[in-house]
Amino acid sequence: MNDRLHQNIFYSIIDGVLLISPALTIQESNLAIEDMFHRSRDSFIHRSLEELFPRQSHVLDKVRKVLVTGACYHDVEAEGMRNIPSSRFPANLTLSPYLESDDSIQGVVILVKNMTLIRELEERQRPADQLNKLGEIAMGMAHEIRNPLGGIRGSAQLLRQEIKNKSHQEYLDIVVSEVDRIDRMIRRMMNLTRPLNLKLKSTNIHKVLEEILVLEKDSLTRKKGRFEQIYDPSLPLIEADEDQLKQVFLNLIKNAIEASRKGGRIQIITRVSSGYAVKTASSPIPQQNIVVEIIDSGEGMDEETRKKLFTPFHTTKKKGSGLGLPISLKIVKDHYGKIKITSEKGLGTTVQVFLPSGQR
Ligand SMILES: Nc1ncnc2c1ncn2[C@@H]1O[C@H](COP(=O)(O)OP(=O)(O)OP(=O)(O)O)[C@@H](O)[C@H]1O
Ligand SMILES: [Mg+2]
Repeated sequence: MNDRLHQNIFYSIIDGVLLISPALTIQESNLAIEDMFHRSRDSFIHRSLEELFPRQSHVLDKVRKVLVTGACYHDVEAEGMRNIPSSRFPANLTLSPYLESDDSIQGVVILVKNMTLIRELEERQRPADQLNKLGEIAMGMAHEIRNPLGGIRGSAQLLRQEIKNKSHQEYLDIVVSEVDRIDRMIRRMMNLTRPLNLKLKSTNIHKVLEEILVLEKDSLTRKKGRFEQIYDPSLPLIEADEDQLKQVFLNLIKNAIEASRKGGRIQIITRVSSGYAVKTASSPIPQQNIVVEIIDSGEGMDEETRKKLFTPFHTTKKKGSGLGLPISLKIVKDHYGKIKITSEKGLGTTVQVFLPSGQR
């Protein structure tokens, strides 16, 4: 093959290709790299590999190993760094030695795959799988559990009327209230597994939010906190099931309050989304979205909790059931929307709910 052909192939590869020198600087790159990293070649060429993968010693270590041993590495997980806007994306790297004609190692070739879309698809797949499995078990068990619960509750109430001793009465009150808690949980669980049959109508999202905020205001005031609403008045109405959306925002706002510290502020922001357009089987033309953001400056969450956010029954709260987020996700997905959560332990949490506005 001639040089020109080599060069054409190099620039046409849709995955990123980097050539790294023995001094760990970037010697060559193809067009896909510029595209993936949202950066022009001049901003990283002849600079350290750390420009693109900052503070990831495992990547540099592997490059050094390839230089010394000539071994190849597949499936090296890394995070690519974009400058403008500053953000990271998941990448998968394949490293192999760059050999001269005398077989001496002159550098390292890194193949860079952008994993953003694949990760998103995996995330979307996972909760659905879990819900399906859960659905089969839940539907089978829910009725069986609720029936005897009714008996327990009724008997406890009868007994309470008979008993005169105050402290014994209190025990029975606990039986009744705990039975009610189990019953509430089962009803919520059944909601997770049933098809929703949405009753769609033109809905003003601000009205939905305001109704929830009125309900929840007291519990935030008890923590000396406050809501701050930043609404975009030009937001279009959306086709939605108002009651179901109330459920979603009630769950999300409750979570924000529960995570808030004393005097915490919870921002509720609405706007039209420019970045993300949903395309679905029933609406193949991407639609404009509205976004509702709920931002708290509360306790945030660690990596472990972030991973399990949408797993039913995963909770870090004493009295939590771990169903708020899975139910919210189901409702939002049934509206062809999406929920995105970012959180930093100790700093706070941002929840974004994207809903199609019906406008293109
Ligand atoms: N705003 C938030 N800040 C910090 N952690 C959060 C926040 N929202 C959710 N979480 C974490 O995610 C977990 C799951 O939330 P989810 O709403 O599904 O269940 P829950 O709040 O524990 O119980 P439930 O909502 O059923 O009463 C929570 O236990 C908490 O650890
Ligand atoms: Mg919750």
